[in-house]
Amino acid sequence: MLECSSLVVRYGPIEAVRGCNIAIPSGTIAAVLGANGAGKSSLMKAIAGLVPVASGRIRVDGEDITDMPPHLRARRGIAFALEGRRLLHRLTVLENLRVAWEFRGRGGDFKAAADRAFARFPMLAARSGFQAGLLSGGQQQMLILSAALIRDPRYLLLDEPSLGLAPVVVQQIFAVIAAVCRDGATTILLSEQVVALALSVAHRAYVLKGGRVVREGGAAALASDPSLSSAYLGG
Ligand SMILES: Nc1ncnc2c1ncn2[C@@H]1O[C@H](COP(=O)(O)OP(=O)(O)O)[C@@H](O)[C@H]1O
Ligand SMILES: [Mg+2]
Repeated sequence: MLECSSLVVRYGPIEAVRGCNIAIPSGTIAAVLGANGAGKSSLMKAIAGLVPVASGRIRVDGEDITDMPPHLRARRGIAFALEGRRLLHRLTVLENLRVAWEFRGRGGDFKAAADRAFARFPMLAARSGFQAGLLSGGQQQMLILSAALIRDPRYLLLDEPSLGLAPVVVQQIFAVIAAVCRDGATTILLSEQVVALALSVAHRAYVLKGGRVVREGGAAALASDPSLSSAYLGG
């Protein structure tokens, strides 16, 4: 279980997250929906430890991680692919996976983990020796997701994984997201502006507006609510 209670994130005078309560049961996918500026990235960065929490608590499996530095959260099995593509552009695909592997822990069978990543995205297998900077945007997103998944994290945070990608790539990425949740012990929190897409894989969703949760519920119920996008998402 990943829980945020009364979470507040501020940048100087700007209150980006204003008392959010979310609870994601293990083994499920939760979506954070909202227009640009709603506070999605700030919420996820706070869970990752990349921005300070002004007040409120974050707990994983009952352990309070609110004040824990990001690398220790990583060791607890919290992985993320957040705003901005962070690949080492001059390193190869395989080298990027190795860097992610070393950063997220010690020991283990890297070769087997890389083979699992390549089985998920055969397109990357064919390009394992290519420099990451020479990949297409879609292939880079596959590599970012593969790097986040390399040690089979318990929790995975994905910030707008569809952003800027062609529909065919989006389909592949979301198929992998759904499969990772189905066949593993990975709990996923993903943010999206594309509501239908997020609700197609998520079990539950939270709608953010102005840093507050203004709607929450089961994905199926929200997907069948025609007022959702016009009321909250600026669509
Ligand atoms: N580093 C920052 N410094 C100041 N304000 C920020 C910063 N990052 C985000 N904000 C502001 O916080 C609010 C929420 O932004 P953000 O979390 O990025 O929303 P979203 O990801 O939903 O687009 C916005 O008003 C945004 O302008
Ligand atoms: Mg954002």
